[in-house]
Amino acid sequence: MDKFLITGGLPLSGRVVVSGAKNSALPCMAAAVLTPETVTLHNVPYVRDCLTQRRLLEDLGATVLVPELRTHKITATPIELFEAPYELVKTMRASVLALGPLLARFGKAKVSLPGGCAIGTRPIDLHLEGLKALGAEVTLEAGDVVARAPKRGRLRGGEMHFEKVTVTGTENLLMAATLAEGKTVLHNAAREPEVSDLAELLNRMGARVRGAGSPTITIEGVEALGGAEHTIIPDRIETGTFLIAAAITGGELEIKDCVPEHSGIVIAHLREAGVEIEEVNQSTLRVRRSSKGLVARDVVTEPHPRFPTDMQAQYMALMTQAEGRSMITETIFENRFMHASEMQRMGAQIHIDGRIATVEGPTQLMGARVQASDLRASACLVLAGLAASGETIIDRVYHIDRGYEKIEMKLRALGADIERLKESEV
Ligand code: UD1
Repeated sequence: MDKFLITGGLPLSGRVVVSGAKNSALPCMAAAVLTPETVTLHNVPYVRDCLTQRRLLEDLGATVLVPELRTHKITATPIELFEAPYELVKTMRASVLALGPLLARFGKAKVSLPGGCAIGTRPIDLHLEGLKALGAEVTLEAGDVVARAPKRGRLRGGEMHFEKVTVTGTENLLMAATLAEGKTVLHNAAREPEVSDLAELLNRMGARVRGAGSPTITIEGVEALGGAEHTIIPDRIETGTFLIAAAITGGELEIKDCVPEHSGIVIAHLREAGVEIEEVNQSTLRVRRSSKGLVARDVVTEPHPRFPTDMQAQYMALMTQAEGRSMITETIFENRFMHASEMQRMGAQIHIDGRIATVEGPTQLMGARVQASDLRASACLVLAGLAASGETIIDRVYHIDRGYEKIEMKLRALGADIERLKESEV
């Protein structure tokens, strides 16, 4: 397992280009299963989860051509397998996104139940309830969810009220409903930009989706979908991570190819905490720490457009450098504070009480040997390592490779002292 070796204390400076959003690429890749024609996706980030999704599509029988590093041409004309097996679902929960498209086009699908994962139990009950609302028969067989469309193999439009906002649940239902007979209305749908991006692709494929980005999405089912070409939106979580990287190291960065609007709440919170962020144009941000320094500000994670849970860990790293006490409340996932104990080992003053983390700052972090536990926790530890004095070694960086494209190369180009140690070198 690779590790990162970081020697902290260097302010970052320069220009960094944001990659495509992993959380948009994954559902868009799955959407290609809805049509026998070719779906071409540009700006797919070169990250492990997208490689896993590609493998899943190929296992199903689709052809995936990659004429350029970030362009995927997916053709799912024949499909030979109708399932996402345990080996894939356990490494990447988003493999459940195969369920909606397979069921919609072929009337049958099997997906292994995700089970527990590092950041909580993360059930898929709402995905299944939604598919049942479209007429699917869903059974549990030996740890797998088996779903079948009603007679004649076609789902029928229906109404689904999500009891909780779920991003991939909304996306699964959205994809399933495109080929259903009649109209579907999704209430309390997720409003994340990635849901809107998927809806845009689906409409390009001939679907009739309205209201994506709002809590109510309406889908008029069509008989068939066709090929399309689409560019994945920039990654707002990577954008936010670089905003914090500049602030935590006391550096100055220009962040290119991002969508500032998608990071609105993060930008607002960071500004309140003493980070100067300038919107240079529609796709560029300039960021630096204010001369007055960082001040503690509370944060509560909630579904979009509120503060994203995927930025909580990175924000906690920043708060260790801010003056005062901040409270960070995690309302989306239980057990998503595992980075806190690792940062405590670096000298951070963090107290956890259930879903609330209280951070006392500022503290001079000291390099230590720490372990990444999930994707965003690893980003947090990288940020802490950049701010710490001395050397930090982060174990299990495969977590960060799941969702950040070449992060150590991007950081090194900005002046960070970070290197990847291959297993044999440690
Ligand atoms: C997606 C993102 C992930 C992000 C999360 C929340 C992708 C590939 N991943 O994950 O990066 O952290 O949104 O913004 O887009 N829930 C249920 N039943 C369900 C589904 C969800 O109770 O059937 C609960 C979950 O346990 C959690 C909450 O709903 O408490 C939100 O989860 P959800 O939005 O579904 O997360 P993902 O879509 O898995």
